[in-house]
Amino acid sequence: MWVQGFEQRLFDWWFGVDTAGISRLHYAELPPEVGKSGYRYEPTPRRTFHRMLRSVCIDYSRFTFVDVGCGKGAVVLYASEVPFKRIIGIEVSPRLHQLAEKNIRGYPRSRIRCRDVSVVCGDGATFSFPNDPLVVYLFNPFNESTLSRLFVNIHRSLVQNPRRIMVVSRNPDCALQLGGEPSLIKEKEKASVFSGSSCS
Ligand SMILES: C[S@@+](CC[C@H](N)C(=O)[O-])C[C@H]1O[C@@H](n2cnc3c(N)ncnc32)[C@H](O)[C@@H]1O
Repeated sequence: MWVQGFEQRLFDWWFGVDTAGISRLHYAELPPEVGKSGYRYEPTPRRTFHRMLRSVCIDYSRFTFVDVGCGKGAVVLYASEVPFKRIIGIEVSPRLHQLAEKNIRGYPRSRIRCRDVSVVCGDGATFSFPNDPLVVYLFNPFNESTLSRLFVNIHRSLVQNPRRIMVVSRNPDCALQLGGEPSLIKEKEKASVFSGSSCS
């Protein structure tokens, strides 16, 4: 665990950003409908992200990458080095959202291979997904009932516009819940990668 923390601080120091550390959510700053459903910020380690991404065999340039619950934007920064069509981070905490924006602004331009990187402040469960093929990344953003709302939202988006949507989850509970989703099938046994391309 401390090795991960050390590596994250090294990443921050090297690239002049601030993504390390655990940040509790201040519930008073959140919209009432979100309440206490959200979990704290903790970054995905860079190596873990790239291992998970390797299990998704796609033409990145056709896909929009969405990090639901992006916190300070660690994953958005890692993903910006991959030539995705577009990258969007969604974060409910205005404080963390501001830090994510600052991190994106400060990240070395020479490393960025995606031309359209942004973070929005809002509830990830009700986010209006773009009509592109999607990679939706989840690392423990919120509790089961809010995850269900997100999956209903993804299903609705698939029905309205059938396309490839891949959901990549770092969290085993979330992967279990994804397994029960009729519109998504498990693509990889080991990595938690699920995808839907039509609707049921
Ligand atoms: C465990 S962190 C993951 C951070 C980032 N995705 C990563 O992997 O490095 C979960 C994040 O989800 C955010 N979050 C919680 N509820 C949310 C909601 N309803 N909508 C958007 N973000 C939310 C938290 O503020 C926190 O920053």
